[in-house]
Amino acid sequence: MTVEEKPILVRKEKNLAWILLNRPNKLNAIDSATLDLLESALVELEADEEIRCVLLKGVGDRAFSAGADTSVFLTLSVEEAKKTISEKGQRVLAKIRELSKPVIAVVNGYALGGGCELALACDFRIASEKARFSQPEINLGLVPGWGGTQLLPRLVDATRAREMILTGRMVDAGEAYNIGLVNKVVPPEKLDEEATKLAESLASGPPKSLAAAKRLLNLSLQTPLSEGLKKEAEDFSSLFATEDFREGVAASRERRKPLFKGK
Ligand code: COA
Repeated sequence: MTVEEKPILVRKEKNLAWILLNRPNKLNAIDSATLDLLESALVELEADEEIRCVLLKGVGDRAFSAGADTSVFLTLSVEEAKKTISEKGQRVLAKIRELSKPVIAVVNGYALGGGCELALACDFRIASEKARFSQPEINLGLVPGWGGTQLLPRLVDATRAREMILTGRMVDAGEAYNIGLVNKVVPPEKLDEEATKLAESLASGPPKSLAAAKRLLNLSLQTPLSEGLKKEAEDFSSLFATEDFREGVAASRERRKPLFKGK
């Protein structure tokens, strides 16, 4: 397989890593092989201590991703659909949510179905003015299968989330911003620059605190408040044992920029 044919490309630039969905002729639709490679890329980047922030983007100028590859849908049994599409996609997307480093979705065009869910699994979504989001599964006689029904209403305006899932309506970048689906909308030619700026700022943060904050935020989606608060107190206090905590407090008192080392 040549580089051009690989459905997932990983590019490392200093302490940032870009994961590129590379099926532009299929609007970066995600098939089983793409999911496997995405999973391997995430495992590799989790283990790479040099990497402090990950950006996820679609190749080409039309799509972040048009979702799960529908070309095999009609050949699958109920059991196969569950195992090879829904459960597998949910497992890979959970790896993004659970990655110990921040992940930014850089959305240049369509983010549909699984593509929208993939963006939702990331910690930040920076969208080009040309980005379009939808959960169109209802129009295929389906429901979202990679977490959309559970995460969309937890992460964005619940009224609009329900509308998006029940009608499949596409929302443009401006509306996506208004309902809390994206963090920022920028002109297409500024997309990479703005995403990189955010990534660099996150990459200069304290890695252990960022990892703990991600874990706690994920926990808040699924646990009673009293349990979440208990865990927050544990993580807050355990960070007192880190070098980065000492550096952060010292830098703040000395009015200088902290230099966090991940220790
Ligand atoms: N799975 C597999 N292939 C897909 C795809 C998907 N989810 N989405 C797009 N493609 C393919 C098309 O089949 C086409 O391939 P081809 O040229 O070999 O036929 C190519 O990507 C370009 O898409 P096309 O439909 O020709 O572009 P368009 O500009 O006319 O329409 C969309 C763009 C996004 C509106 C349309 O492609 C679409 O509705 N895609 C399906 C989105 C979807 O339902 N996703 C959820 C899946 S659960």
